Amino acid sequence: MSTFNLNGDAKSGDETVDDLDDIDFSKLLEKPRPLTIDRLRSLDERSLLTELSTSPPQLRNADNAASRGNDRADNVVSPSLGFNTPRSLAGFESHPMVGEAWDALRRSMVYFRGQPVGTIAAVDNSEEKLNYDQVFVRDFVPSALAFLMNGEPDIVKNFLLKTLRLQSWEKKIDRFQLGEGVMPASFKVFHDPVRNYETLIADFGESAIGRVAPVDSGFWWIILLRAYTKSTGDSSLADMPECQKGIRLILSLCLSEGFDTFPTLLCADGCCMIDRRMGVYGYPIEIQALFFMSLRCALLLLKHEGEGKEMVEQIAKRLHALSYHMRSYFWLDLKQLNDIYRYKTEEYSHTAVNKFNVIPDSLPEWVFDFMPPNGGFFIGNVSPARMDFRWFALGNCIAILSSLATPDQSTAIMDLIEARWEELVGEMPLKVCYPAIESHEWKIVTGCDPKNTRWSYHNGGSWPVLLWLLTAACIKTGRPQIARRAIEVAEARLHKDNWPEYYDGTVGRYVGKQARKCQTWSIAGYLVAKMMLEDPSHVGMVALEEDKQMKPVMRRSNSWTC
Ligand code: GLC
Repeated sequence: MSTFNLNGDAKSGDETVDDLDDIDFSKLLEKPRPLTIDRLRSLDERSLLTELSTSPPQLRNADNAASRGNDRADNVVSPSLGFNTPRSLAGFESHPMVGEAWDALRRSMVYFRGQPVGTIAAVDNSEEKLNYDQVFVRDFVPSALAFLMNGEPDIVKNFLLKTLRLQSWEKKIDRFQLGEGVMPASFKVFHDPVRNYETLIADFGESAIGRVAPVDSGFWWIILLRAYTKSTGDSSLADMPECQKGIRLILSLCLSEGFDTFPTLLCADGCCMIDRRMGVYGYPIEIQALFFMSLRCALLLLKHEGEGKEMVEQIAKRLHALSYHMRSYFWLDLKQLNDIYRYKTEEYSHTAVNKFNVIPDSLPEWVFDFMPPNGGFFIGNVSPARMDFRWFALGNCIAILSSLATPDQSTAIMDLIEARWEELVGEMPLKVCYPAIESHEWKIVTGCDPKNTRWSYHNGGSWPVLLWLLTAACIKTGRPQIARRAIEVAEARLHKDNWPEYYDGTVGRYVGKQARKCQTWSIAGYLVAKMMLEDPSHVGMVALEEDKQMKPVMRRSNSWTC
């Protein structure tokens, strides 16, 4: 496998890291070719396809449409069959949980003036509600994908338009005005009984516990707009001047010039799915991967004219720098780990190998055993003298789906998941991060957070929602059998336990100590995973093909030759 030292030299394979520098993202501005999910299908998926060819003509047409593709600047159109009830393609056995999950998902739907606009975070009346009675932007994504896959795009369109309206609100925390492009973390419908009138209430961080900034919301909004466009083939929503402006405002927040020396996005702690203090401040992988994916989606959605033109150029430049930085400095495999272990420190000038002056003594013990001979992953965070070696599920799966990871890196990420199955999947997929932070370090890093104790919640907890991301990544890398195994593990408990938000323990054996039940994204995540396995062309909604016009950047090799 090829790896890079911090000097940017490729140590194996026949390309050098300089090739990375040559990736021409302006090429991404050209119309990409269709993402042929077929190519990615493993043998067993292909045999299922043969079965499909004997399915009813209505379904076959949808599949044909999927391979034709009709997005403006995009590839596969996932089938939208216009069914209102859950469907199952011929030749597939539907698990009894699927029907239960659909009922539960429908019970979570939120209506505003008679129209469905989202899904509530958890339908659990046994616990204090806090903000779980709200529609979270990030939580709605798997719900939205389930509805799109089931041919019900209206709720998704309404959600995208309503949240866009919320973006245009004046947002203040105490006396501080937030940026125009900020999207809310969540919103709810307020019913005024006196006027018998409904209004929306949004939270941009001003009510959130810890006043955390929802940096990921805007990225998810763009990613969802592209999924909607791809699934329905309807580009009129994305083409609306209001949507075009919404995309530009979100990305202006990230692309403005400043003092940064890195192309990654600098963030405060708790600004994404991990919305509490967990040592993810700085350049967390989750945000970097979502940033990369939304930049690529924006290139497909933005009109390359007028105000969009300048932004498109900015995006292309940033993608170029961001992919180089991530693939070079966030990537870790056995070779790279060994290089870091032997680093010299205090190097000055552009010839430095250890560019960020990482002190080898800061390497955690666990990482040496965790790293398999084949395999690798994007680490949690990189900044001066700091490498957070923790493995994070969401960032690594999004890296695969967005093609931030090269094909070799994607394969390596999947190899690692297989090699570390017990640790990462265990008895409930999937660990939000690995490993947990314990003892004194937990006190310092989390500020003694009693929810985030070791192997609980965000600190090494297991989150069923991540199943959809794992499944999508498995299908994109041609390894659906891994997803099948993980889904089977989840099916043994998820419904019986009433769809918990998260599980605790080293292998996820215990329902999380403060986990909500009937957590919507656990339900939707399961449904999306099932539907993608049934019809892998759905993955096209959330996957971006690597641009073939980009030069190949790395070759996988097990040799350690210099
Ligand atoms: C918790 C999670 C966050 C999620 C929210 C609603 O705060 O950390 O990611 O959006 O619950 O489910």
